[in-house]
Amino acid sequence: MNQDQTKQLLGQAAAKAILPLMDPETFIGVGTGSTANYFIDALADVRHLFAGAVASSVASADRLKAHNILVISLNESGPLSVYVDGADEIAPDFSMIKGGGGALTREKIVAAAAEHFICIADQTKWVSRLGRFPLPIEVIPMARSSIARKLVGFGGTPVLRENFITDNGNEILDVHDLTIDEPVKFESMLNDIPGVVTNGLFALRPADQLIMDDAGDIHHYQPGQR
Ligand code: A5P
Repeated sequence: MNQDQTKQLLGQAAAKAILPLMDPETFIGVGTGSTANYFIDALADVRHLFAGAVASSVASADRLKAHNILVISLNESGPLSVYVDGADEIAPDFSMIKGGGGALTREKIVAAAAEHFICIADQTKWVSRLGRFPLPIEVIPMARSSIARKLVGFGGTPVLRENFITDNGNEILDVHDLTIDEPVKFESMLNDIPGVVTNGLFALRPADQLIMDDAGDIHHYQPGQR
């Protein structure tokens, strides 16, 4: 099985896992990325069982709409029972690095509004400690250089993501060479830098469940179980 087929199985497994939460009033929080795309495709088969979705990016909203799934804003939906998304890295406590696709801000907002966060990730995303994947940080453009200097002070090597503007009109710094020993503390510290919109650490609000492939099978894990 190749990585794409695995991602498809993960997306299908997530759609199946949330069936008990579905009713005609339910809106589902939907993430962004290639794994989340397979989740969206799997939702198409059960679209008659739920009301619609709140998307974490324009790309995901477009894909949902292409499947005739109603997309509404988070302001209209109110709290969500579940959010499903991929990750760039996930650690044993289910803290994550996200934002490889640049949708981290809306992902963090929608995830925070959901009671339950299911991460769908193939095993290449599993790490014992976060930080090998460059940490994406969405910044207000005028603050880019001052933020970059602070990040260098933290031991990081920030690189501006070329030719990329987020759905919110901002820029992304991808920060290499970080040692992230205390992700919760580090996430808060980064949030305190003026001009940082969102950082890609999802440690203050980690996933509640992980769906991951192991030895060719799809498994459902709780934090600390894998
Ligand atoms: C999007 O901004 C990201 O957070 C994605 O969820 C993450 O990059 C995983 O994407 P893939 O499923 O494409 O690996």
